[in-house]
Amino acid sequence: MKPFDFDELTIRRGTASLKWDTTDDPEVIPLWVADMDFRTAPAVTLALAERVASGIFGYVDIPQDYYRALSSWFLRKHGWHINKDHVIPTTGVVPAVSAIIKAFTKPGDGVILQTPAYNCFFSSIRNNGCRLIDNPLLIKELENGFSYDMDFVNLEVLASDPRNKVLILCNPHNPTGRVWTREELTKVRDICNANNVKVISDEIHCELVHPGFEYTPFAYIDPTAVVCCSPSKAFNTAGLQIANIVASQPDDRYAINRAINDNEVCDVNPFGVTGLIAAYDKGDGWLSSLKEYLEENRKFLHEIISENLPTWKICDSESTYLAWIDISASGLEGDEMEEYLLKKAKVRISSGSDYGDFRFIRINYACPRQRLLTAMHRIIEALKEML
Ligand SMILES: Cc1ncc(COP(=O)(O)O)c(C=O)c1O
Repeated sequence: MKPFDFDELTIRRGTASLKWDTTDDPEVIPLWVADMDFRTAPAVTLALAERVASGIFGYVDIPQDYYRALSSWFLRKHGWHINKDHVIPTTGVVPAVSAIIKAFTKPGDGVILQTPAYNCFFSSIRNNGCRLIDNPLLIKELENGFSYDMDFVNLEVLASDPRNKVLILCNPHNPTGRVWTREELTKVRDICNANNVKVISDEIHCELVHPGFEYTPFAYIDPTAVVCCSPSKAFNTAGLQIANIVASQPDDRYAINRAINDNEVCDVNPFGVTGLIAAYDKGDGWLSSLKEYLEENRKFLHEIISENLPTWKICDSESTYLAWIDISASGLEGDEMEEYLLKKAKVRISSGSDYGDFRFIRINYACPRQRLLTAMHRIIEALKEML
C-alpha cells in the first residue's frame, strides 16, 4: 500500500472552499485557483488536531520553534541560512507583498512587473496607488513547445527611470512555471542594484520545482533583497494563512513592520504557526510523494492535450502544478474559453486575462488523476461540439 493516497477523490464541496463552493452547479469540476484537492501531509493534520484538542485559541506569540523549523527547512532543502532576526511572519504572501510595496513606495511611484504574472500583484500595485510598469516576458520557441525569458534590455531601461522604485520578482514564476537560473537572477540583481530598484521576491512556489530544475533563493544572489515564502502552496495549507518575509536590512524591516502595523494585519493565527512547524519538521516524505504524483499528472495532461487538442500549446513548465496554455489558435480568447468550458464542459479553468495575457488559459492539475481525466474528457467533448 502506498503511504499517501493522492488518488482519493476528496470531497471539498460544502467545506467553505473558494475553489469549489463559489460555483453553484454541483457538477462543475474546478481547475482554477492554485489550491490542491489533496489532503495535506498527515503530520500537519495530526499537529493541528492536537492544537484543536487544547480548546484554547487566544492571541499568538510566535515561539522559537517556529523560527527553528523555518530556518532548518531552508538550510536543509535549499542551503539558504535564514537568520531568525530577519523574519517577519505575516498572514500571507499577498498581504506581505502589498505591505512591502507600501513600505518602499509613495503613491504614483512605478512598480515593475514581468507579465504574464500572478493576478494579485496587479491589485497590490494598484491598491497602493502605484503605477504598473510592465516588462513583458519574451516568449521563447523551443523544439517542442515554448517557454519564456526575461527582457533584460527593457528591464534596464525601466529600472533606470528614477520614478520606478520596486521590481516584483516571482521565483519560480506563476503562471509560466519558469525557474529562474542563477545567471538570470544575477542579471536582475545587477540591474536593480545599479538603479536603486528594490526587489521583492515572491518564492511561494519554491518547493514545487520539476525534476531537473533547481530553485535558487534570490537571497543567495542578493542578500539585501526582500523575500516572501510560505509552506502553503507545497503543503496545501493556504487557508491557514501563514507566510514569512525575510528582510536582512534593518531599515527595510523597520519600514515593512511599519506598513504591516499601519494596515493592522500583524497578528497570525495559532493554526498557521502549528501547521508551519509540522510541515517543515515532518512533511518532507509527503512532499516528495506529492511531487512524484504531480509529475505524473503533468505528463498525463501533456499527452491528453497533444493527442486531442491540437490547437492548444502548453508552455514548457519547470515548476508549479499550473499549466499555462496558449489557446490563440482555437479562435477563442481566454475569457471566452473560460465561459464556454464552464457552460458546456462544466469545468472551471482560469482565463489568461487574469494574468495579463488574453491568449492563454491556466489549468490547475493538482487533483486526483481520475478527476483530471474526467475534466479533460469533458473539455475535449465540449470543444468537439464547437467545430
Ligand atoms: C505567486 C503567488 N504569490 C502569492 C500567492 C498567494 O499567497 P497567499 O495565499 O499566501 O496570500 C499565490 C497563490 O497562488 C501565488 O501564486
